[in-house]
Amino acid sequence: MPDGPSSACFEDIRFEPEALPDLSLEDIDISTSFCGLTMKAPLLINALTGGTRQSAYINARLAQVAKQTGLGLAVGSQRIALDDPSVAYSFKIVRSIYPKGTIFANIGAGSNVHEACRAVEMLAAQGLQVHLNVAQEMAMAEGDRSFYWSEHIADIAQKIPVPIVAKEVGFGLTGATVKRLLKLGVAGVDVGGSGGTNFILVEHSRRGRHRSPLGDWGLPTVWSLLDVLGTNPNAEVCASGGIRNGLDMAKALALGARVCGVAKPLLQAVTKRGVKAGVTFVQRCLDELRTVMVLVGAKDLPSLRQKPILFGRETFAYLRQRGLADLWIRR
Ligand SMILES: Cc1cc2nc3c(=O)[nH]c(=O)nc-3n(C[C@H](O)[C@H](O)[C@H](O)COP(=O)(O)O)c2cc1C
Repeated sequence: MPDGPSSACFEDIRFEPEALPDLSLEDIDISTSFCGLTMKAPLLINALTGGTRQSAYINARLAQVAKQTGLGLAVGSQRIALDDPSVAYSFKIVRSIYPKGTIFANIGAGSNVHEACRAVEMLAAQGLQVHLNVAQEMAMAEGDRSFYWSEHIADIAQKIPVPIVAKEVGFGLTGATVKRLLKLGVAGVDVGGSGGTNFILVEHSRRGRHRSPLGDWGLPTVWSLLDVLGTNPNAEVCASGGIRNGLDMAKALALGARVCGVAKPLLQAVTKRGVKAGVTFVQRCLDELRTVMVLVGAKDLPSLRQKPILFGRETFAYLRQRGLADLWIRR
């Protein structure tokens, strides 16, 4: 399934080049932290569904990529293993391959605190992603139709001993929603914006349909980042949705994301071409990120966040509509 149909809007923002960076490539530091977890690089292998024999094989490959590159990894929804413990092995394999890795468990926001605990324990996870996927559920013939989630999230955030990350899956979070999520006690959010994997179109094509009036639903990843970080400047944010290379990563990190998440390209790499292809994809992204950091004169990620961003016409119009233009231009 292709990305889109509209873009994540990374092409609508630009860096200013620095012709006199006074830096060398080997001085570039891309280490980061997210929700109290230290990360060697600002890239997370994001949640990809699990729970079957086929996904044990995919999860094993993703875990090998994470281990060889030192990245953090989030597993896909553990719902299936919570309902049927006999398939828990397809998730546990990640921890057995990558015993020292930073691993996020993953559950839906309708799950209760007991299920959240079991998901974390299944992986000895350092963090828990709670996915918010209203648009995906509504697009699924067999999907949920009722979404009273706030109380569950507050309960989980209060009682689970690891940081909770509330995560969209490709339709974007707004600043207002993130304000509510932070009040509920989440440690961080993943904006999961539009422009990458599109679950409305995925679900439609499963039913043999290739068009939907809602095919273009959602907030592009860049706009979601601008709104979320413009209104919640101290929020711990993961940028995901349509991140496809190190330049996209650099832009998301310059807007204030602590880490970037990539899902579909890594799934495609490991299923079609194996672990080596996944490792190559990761290394290429990180090399491109370091290159861009030299080109803008940023020796580390806090310094990248200080660099001016130039906004294209559409993104500038969005910022003006949201009353955020002065804030982002003054920066
Ligand atoms: C095949 C597939 C399965 C996914 N399963 C989950 C899931 O179980 N839980 C979740 O939070 N996100 C899931 N996602 C969403 C991704 O984690 C990510 O938020 C989204 O795909 C956007 O990133 P991308 O454009 O890099 O693919 C899945 C994505 C794909 C492609």
